[in-house]
Amino acid sequence: MNRSQFPEHFLWGAASAAYQIEGGYQADDKGPSIWDTFTQQTDKTKHHTNGQVATDHYHRYKEDVNLMAEMRLKAYRFSISWSRIMPTGEKNISESGLSFYSDLIDNLLAHGITPVVTLYHWDLPQALQDKYGGWESRALVPLFADYCRILFERFGDRVTYWVTFNEQNVFTSLGYRWASHPPNIADEKRMFAANHVINLANATAINLCHELLPSALIGPSFGYGEVAPFSSQPEDVLAAKDANQFNNDWWLDVYCRGQYPVKILHLLQNLNLDFEISAADDVLLKSAHPNFIGLNYYHGGTVRAPSQAQSDVVEKQLTNIDPYLMAADNNQKSPEHYLFQSVENPYLDKTDWGWEIDPIGFQIALRNIYDKYQLPIFVTENGLGAFDTLDSHQNINDDYRIQYLNQHLLELSAAIASGVEVIGYCAWSFTDLLSWLNGYDKRYGFVYIDRDDFSAKTLTRIPKKSFY
Ligand code: BG6
Repeated sequence: MNRSQFPEHFLWGAASAAYQIEGGYQADDKGPSIWDTFTQQTDKTKHHTNGQVATDHYHRYKEDVNLMAEMRLKAYRFSISWSRIMPTGEKNISESGLSFYSDLIDNLLAHGITPVVTLYHWDLPQALQDKYGGWESRALVPLFADYCRILFERFGDRVTYWVTFNEQNVFTSLGYRWASHPPNIADEKRMFAANHVINLANATAINLCHELLPSALIGPSFGYGEVAPFSSQPEDVLAAKDANQFNNDWWLDVYCRGQYPVKILHLLQNLNLDFEISAADDVLLKSAHPNFIGLNYYHGGTVRAPSQAQSDVVEKQLTNIDPYLMAADNNQKSPEHYLFQSVENPYLDKTDWGWEIDPIGFQIALRNIYDKYQLPIFVTENGLGAFDTLDSHQNINDDYRIQYLNQHLLELSAAIASGVEVIGYCAWSFTDLLSWLNGYDKRYGFVYIDRDDFSAKTLTRIPKKSFY
């Protein structure tokens, strides 16, 4: 693999999200987000970790951008915290919040780094949750558009690449089904309803961007994993098709074609899990055309037919909820119960956190998405969460991460060679950061941050071997 196998202006980058790095949770005018509240009011995060200080990027962003430049990143994907821009999510605008991101963008550009801005990476202003019930309310669609309009107007002269929602599939299921993210709800019907409202907000934001910034490029980032059948038994093959529809097409078909997969829609109706889709919704969803699909790839999944359960297959443990593959549960009303059951793939190694490592699945994902939707793909996340430790010379020899990234980049280059159009690749993540539920020990970065779950320590930045 060498550079010439990638397009000339390929965006080699790394990514982050506001709540996971910024800290400064009450700095200047910032209002609380649902993550600020959730981490204070529940004990669902490891060791009660939260993003109050995080990596203190809010105060140290210049140092971080200098490191990006030293690593020669061509792109940096970060998210904007809505409640930093609008403390209550609506009406009043915070100039200090805007100037933080404006300075960050200017700093990146001054170093030749292309900013890639995510509009929503899970930190809804708490005031919108309290006043309207968050994403369950259609009132959020125009409010999200108001917020996006401000960003397009203020930053559109300098930002070309925009991501609407980060991993809608993940934050809706963890937030509204499994009650392990805010708003801490366990109700499938409400999840599907909120998901539809977010689809409307996504389409509205894309249309608004195209109206205000005709040369900008915008798309959602989706947490995608191709689902394989456990065996060649036709029932398992059918289960894999259904699982792909349920886990992937359910979102990607809406983003790219403006329609839900019919089979899943019918199943939800039969299970009384359906939601209101008006004629106007239909028009709106069909009117929005993303310029690219953001792909966050960690791994895929394996399934067999629900009726094929046998003792030789290790079923996925529900205690370790996997956000990339909604595990079937015993609830007879759950859609998965009728479609598939998730099982372990016996051929794959796993990370320290039990996530399957499947680089070939990455090539399959890229090719399948491109073949199906014919849109350029921007890899907006891919990386390895691991326990990194400092050696006696204060170095981090993360050869396992280098190997992981190398294997995935080889598959990426193979996908490109086979004709898939890929705009860029942002590794997750640039610095170590807060892993939402797993605290600070699950490290993804090229740059080590000297902190742990219990103390912010020195917050010193130490480039790892993978950085070099
Ligand atoms: C994605 C998110 O789900 O995966 C990131 O977009 C997240 O915000 C990353 O940190 C890794 O997940 P985790 O749970 O290991 O932190």
